[in-house]
Amino acid sequence: MNNELPFIKDMFNSIAPRYDLLNRLLSLRQDVYWRKMLVKAINIIGKKRVLDVACGTGDVMLEMIKQSDKETLIAGLDFSSRMLDLAKKKLAVHQKRKLQLVAADAFNLPFKQNSFEAITIAFGIRNIKNRLKVLKVFHDGLTVNGVLAILELTTPRSKFFLNIYLLYFQKILPLIGKLFAGHQRAYQYLPESVINFPDSTEFREILISAGFKKIKMKRLTFGIATLYTGFKHE
Ligand SMILES: C[S@@+](CC[C@H](N)C(=O)[O-])C[C@H]1O[C@@H](n2cnc3c(N)ncnc32)[C@H](O)[C@@H]1O
Repeated sequence: MNNELPFIKDMFNSIAPRYDLLNRLLSLRQDVYWRKMLVKAINIIGKKRVLDVACGTGDVMLEMIKQSDKETLIAGLDFSSRMLDLAKKKLAVHQKRKLQLVAADAFNLPFKQNSFEAITIAFGIRNIKNRLKVLKVFHDGLTVNGVLAILELTTPRSKFFLNIYLLYFQKILPLIGKLFAGHQRAYQYLPESVINFPDSTEFREILISAGFKKIKMKRLTFGIATLYTGFKHE
């Protein structure tokens, strides 16, 4: 199986300049709250090394900076150079913090194994085809007792809300994407990828197969986002 979908890197390179604006607009700013919850879930205070995979324009890292103290090294990794350029600009004001931005693929973390006390990935795992493999890579990257936190867009459970959501997501959102990002295909792909993402039972099984324990999940904003956490044990 190919690890990745071939068009993902090009797609993010091309929508990068409008990515933040579209996130705020399409989620009605809920994305800011979701990332806050993601970082809360890893209890960052006192941690020495944390990694945000698929860091994009750096919004999770900015939230990590807010919630942690100066001793924490915060690394961010992404394979889109244009997303990373934007992250670099946004992080430039935090020169006193220990930050690292790395251009790399999530399947080949350029770090020693067992070296992060927490790994996060926000809205990234959906775009990766071989999820079991990448979750095993994250497991290897964590220290014993390290925590993985995953934030992902999901579909609401209530039938009533699901219908309204699908109407917005499949009909209106691609048009907004075309208008603001000039990339209708990317915002057509977005709903497809969310609808095709495994449900919570299935995703939990994948996390277990990758070696994670004590798995928890929390639905956010009527279930249009879900936060998963899991731990690496000996
Ligand atoms: C939807 S964006 C999320 C960005 C950021 N985490 C956020 O909260 O806004 C997905 C990001 O994942 C990155 N990505 C997707 N597959 C990747 C892979 N295999 N390795 C590294 N980055 C990847 C893309 O380049 C993109 O920046």
